[in-house]
Amino acid sequence: MSAATHTTVDAEPVGTVPLSAALRAGTRQEHTEAERSSFVERLVAGELDVAAYTDLAAQQHAVYTALEAAGARLRAAGADGGLVFDELERVPAIKADLAALLGDGWRAQVRVLPATTAYATRLQAVGDDLVLYAAHAYTRYLGDLSGGQVLQRMIARHYGLTAGLSFYDFPQIHRLKPFKDVYRERLDALPLTPAQQAGVVAEAQLAFRLNRAMFTDLGAVHVR
Ligand code: HEM
Repeated sequence: MSAATHTTVDAEPVGTVPLSAALRAGTRQEHTEAERSSFVERLVAGELDVAAYTDLAAQQHAVYTALEAAGARLRAAGADGGLVFDELERVPAIKADLAALLGDGWRAQVRVLPATTAYATRLQAVGDDLVLYAAHAYTRYLGDLSGGQVLQRMIARHYGLTAGLSFYDFPQIHRLKPFKDVYRERLDALPLTPAQQAGVVAEAQLAFRLNRAMFTDLGAVHVR
């Protein structure tokens, strides 16, 4: 991908298309690469094991703890642009999954990989910056509401899991598609300048790369 695509979408400058469309187009390549990460491919193909999925859940615990702390700060300040939804909150589900997979003493049995620490550090730097928060929240939550649903089915099937997959359940969201449409409308309504919108797209590209680095670390540990 050329440097120019970081600020343009199909030759149209960011700002002349809705932010949600700029995000989708601007991260299409990164999405393909994340989807093709060896760890993700092997996980959904049934080539790994429950321990690999559990390790992914542990990394996601660190990531969502930082992401949702940023969201809570922004919402408390009345500055979340309507992007923080209780229905999306993932930390309680991840904790329940880790307890189901490892027992109540799960905290002593998990560790955070270096790329996950780097990702969480970036999330901690979001501070009260809506541009950065929007990018990271888009990358994770719209992914969980989309491909995450495929991942859940494949992981349950291949590894015979009947518990530990509630991360992918959104019990308060009855129909995912209309919810995603509302989320995109919120993104499109954010009061951002064209330069700030370009900043959201650039940060989302970084968010995808941080996810890929996490999958690389996971792939190096889980080499069945
Ligand atoms: C096996 C892995 C994956 C599969 C099968 C997958 C599949 C999909 C599919 C089918 C969609 C389109 C849904 C729609 O149009 O409503 C989608 C959207 C999305 N995915 Fe993934 N995905 C995977 C991995 C990931 C990863 C690792 C991330 C980022 C961490 C991610 C982030 C996203 C985002 C942000 C969207 C929304 C795109 C948009 O409409 O703007 N996905 N995914």
